[in-house]
Amino acid sequence: MNRKVLVTGGTGYIGSHAVVELQAVGFEVLIIDDLSNSTAEVVDQIEKISGIRPGFEVFNLLEYERLQTFFVTNPGIEAIIHFAAFKAVGESVEKPLAYYRNNLVSLMNILDCMSEHKVPNLVFSSSCTVYGQPDQLPVTETTPKKDAESPYGNTKAISEELLRDVVNVNPEINAIALRYFNPIGAHPSALIGELPRGIPNNLVPFITQTAAGIREQLSIYGDDYNTSDGSCVRDYINVVDLAKAHVIAINRLISHTNNDRYEFFNIGTGNGASVLEVVHTFEKATGVNVNYKIVARRAGDIEKIYADTTMANNVLGWKAQASLSDTLLSAWNWEKKIRNIK
Ligand code: UFG
Repeated sequence: MNRKVLVTGGTGYIGSHAVVELQAVGFEVLIIDDLSNSTAEVVDQIEKISGIRPGFEVFNLLEYERLQTFFVTNPGIEAIIHFAAFKAVGESVEKPLAYYRNNLVSLMNILDCMSEHKVPNLVFSSSCTVYGQPDQLPVTETTPKKDAESPYGNTKAISEELLRDVVNVNPEINAIALRYFNPIGAHPSALIGELPRGIPNNLVPFITQTAAGIREQLSIYGDDYNTSDGSCVRDYINVVDLAKAHVIAINRLISHTNNDRYEFFNIGTGNGASVLEVVHTFEKATGVNVNYKIVARRAGDIEKIYADTTMANNVLGWKAQASLSDTLLSAWNWEKKIRNIK
């Protein structure tokens, strides 16, 4: 019998890629998603890639009774990957209560159900946002955390502390938090990818939509930072590489090779790329020019951050594979596919 994994937020951007990678190595995947930032068609797309239809239920994890029933009707789940969360930084400033409630209470409900239904393993979606603007680069897992820049970021910081404390007093629960840097790109099949609602907040969807003619112009937020070309630096990680890190984390937990019952890892490439570099790499990879202008800095942006991935490399045995150029090309192929561009 295949080992069962629950993926919350499994129709979302990173979640859908993780489902495909889990299925590829033989896990039976069950998805819970409230479709607040995705569509049910993603399940069809996953099936097209893997040939296997994942289990799928639509509800919000704040519905505790429903979640309890889910575990009763789906016994034998060995691990959970908890992606389901709100993730828009700007929106979180406008709606802090919604963010704290959704992101924290859903994690608490999952943890309660893990104890009650004897699910021993959890992989949690965290973020490099927990570091704020670090004093030293690259950031290691032990780089001191700064105050979060937004309620969204704070939900990730608090979630990590919550996890640590809960694991501490629950010997039957093991958890790994993965601190993602900036996930970009799409599945090579172009059947799944990032589907932002409305105007994209993130750089790469804005680039691909500008290249597709949906947006007139990309605004680059600032060229007066203390970086090589003055634009901000991030560590852009291919979403399929990122998805694979989850499979490794799940296997580590299931096979009890974890050193501590709560572990956390940076998941990035280890390389910083500036906004202008990303734009120019995209243009070179795709042959499509991006209309852009330099505008004022965006409030809350940090100047530069990139990961020290030694822990992920040596302890998890995971390493980012895809180049920035190939990853940007995959994002463009996805954009072309959904817009019917030849
Ligand atoms: N940028 C632009 N123009 C745009 C959009 C972005 O110049 O239209 C720039 C930003 O100023 C930044 C870089 O591109 O320098 C990356 O911006 P994103 O919005 O794509 O990503 P962020 O690094 O701001 O945010 C990401 C995740 C958050 C997470 C954060 C942690 O989206 O969920 O990393 O640092 F909290």
